[in-house]
Amino acid sequence: MKPTLLQKGIQSKLLRWFKKNGRDLPWRKTRDPYAIWVSEIMLQQTQVATVVPYFQKFLKTFPTIHQLAKSDLSKVLKTWEGLGYYSRARNLHGASRILLNHFRGKVPDTLKDLLSLSGIGRSTAGAILSFAFHKEAPILDGNAKRILSRLFAVSGSPEERKTEQLLWKFSESLIPKGYSNPFNQALMDLGSMICTPKDPQCPKCPLHDFCKGYGSGKPEKYPVKEPKKKIPHIESATAVIKKGEKVLLNQRPPEGLLGGLWEFPNCRVGLKQGPRLRLGLINAIKKEMGMDVEVKKFMGIFYQTYSHFKLTMHIFHCRHLNGKGKGKWVPLKGLRLLPLSKIHRRIADTIIPKLSPLRERNQ
Ligand code: ADE
Repeated sequence: MKPTLLQKGIQSKLLRWFKKNGRDLPWRKTRDPYAIWVSEIMLQQTQVATVVPYFQKFLKTFPTIHQLAKSDLSKVLKTWEGLGYYSRARNLHGASRILLNHFRGKVPDTLKDLLSLSGIGRSTAGAILSFAFHKEAPILDGNAKRILSRLFAVSGSPEERKTEQLLWKFSESLIPKGYSNPFNQALMDLGSMICTPKDPQCPKCPLHDFCKGYGSGKPEKYPVKEPKKKIPHIESATAVIKKGEKVLLNQRPPEGLLGGLWEFPNCRVGLKQGPRLRLGLINAIKKEMGMDVEVKKFMGIFYQTYSHFKLTMHIFHCRHLNGKGKGKWVPLKGLRLLPLSKIHRRIADTIIPKLSPLRERNQ
């Protein structure tokens, strides 16, 4: 269909703005569909500045789909350590094996095939199709949702199916023929540089003449928000159980939250349990790991916010009394090599012996 004057205006203003202001990002310097796929998975729920060093390290470690598919999940998780949302790494690794076995080792170039891979939803598929294959596929990530909701003063929340479908229609209808790649990148850049969630820079926006949200005087009102759900608060007690130069760790089950990562033995405790924390920890380690320990010293409290809950972790040094139990005794120096979640990495950092300056220099 021929674009309307409004569509043409939006397209040309945005493309011109992008030519002048678009960001120079490492995944924009390649046309390798594998590298673009990796970048789009990392950029789900994560800021560009955080992703850049991880993207570079990941491609250095796993330069091809074949090398990723042939690696252990543990090495993939280690490379992902600190980036969060670890199911993304597991899905990427699992999907690389499917590509090797069923797609001749190549990232597919159709929406249907991309959607069949774990971790790829419609917007990520649209990004891969437009950036790697220059196909006219729309995106609807957080940036695009915000821009389109404002541009057309959309009255429903994007979390409602009906509104989301409308936004997909807008996104699709705006793609200029032959220019899906720069157009979709431009939407992402405009969303993170100008049309930001809290303080949009409307006077600098190339689309302000067309924007109904700007016209309303209250662009921040869009996208319409659902009332925020309060996230639960969880407390846990964690045991650092040392035996000589070794410390006890458990590996989490392969699926679910932080699946496949290693951690110090821990248990959930009731909120503000105070002195009963120690007893709870001793009992949990006895029950779950078949081991008797004595709680020695309180090491401190760490806090971490996850997408669905907040965690307060009370950490104790414990002494192993008896029982072989479950888990793995890891040499303190070997802690660097295992994939740990952020909060457990912080604990590990407090117990890993520091290298002396002389040895550091010699290494
Ligand atoms: N967010 C998601 N994909 C992106 C990309 N390719 N560039 C910048 N931000 C993004």
